[in-house]
Amino acid sequence: MAVLIESAGMQDLDALLELESEAFNAADWMLSRRAFRYHLQSNNLLLVARQSRNNPRPVAYILVLKRKKTARIYSLAVSPAFRRQGIASQLFKEALNDCIASQLYKVRLEVRASNHTAISLYKALGFQEHDVCPDYYQDHEDACRMEWRYDSSLIH
Ligand SMILES: CC(C)(COP(=O)(O)OP(=O)(O)OC[C@H]1O[C@@H](n2cnc3c(N)ncnc32)[C@H](O)[C@@H]1OP(=O)(O)O)[C@@H](O)C(=O)NCCC(=O)NCCS
Repeated sequence: MAVLIESAGMQDLDALLELESEAFNAADWMLSRRAFRYHLQSNNLLLVARQSRNNPRPVAYILVLKRKKTARIYSLAVSPAFRRQGIASQLFKEALNDCIASQLYKVRLEVRASNHTAISLYKALGFQEHDVCPDYYQDHEDACRMEWRYDSSLIH
């Protein structure tokens, strides 16, 4: 499904919070309104996917924290009704292109070891398993840390 991908704005706050509550549960670190507001005003990258200009309510988002030499995918969520249509992949490609443009050639993320859906997506995008962070989440689940390094053949 083709979507419109662009930087989020303050007008997207309500929809971002709704996406967050649809995608995660209390055991996850859910982003609050205050946290989204902070990221919107920071140097970090917060992209949303909109169905169209006429229907601009975000159906997905990705948040990337930019450091001096690396970037970290902090969060990603697609509304349940819009999953498995390539939207997360499109958001990722935009985000990775932005990282390259910012000369950030190493991108890291942590994902629940049990989140096979997300791990499949990350592997399909060229991320490799780096190491395991034991007892990482509030409910003591381990995180799988994955890493992507710039390879021009992966970006279209
Ligand atoms: C993980 C998530 C972001 C994937 O979003 P999506 O838009 O459905 O992903 P895409 O359609 O771009 O999928 C791309 C590839 O990822 C893999 N994938 C995605 N969903 C999958 C599933 N349910 N089962 C197996 N593989 C899957 C496949 O390789 C897929 O390619 P294919 O459809 O050609 O086989 C979405 O399921 C989601 O929001 N989950 C809840 C929140 C979450 O877990 N976020 C990530 C951790 S922070």
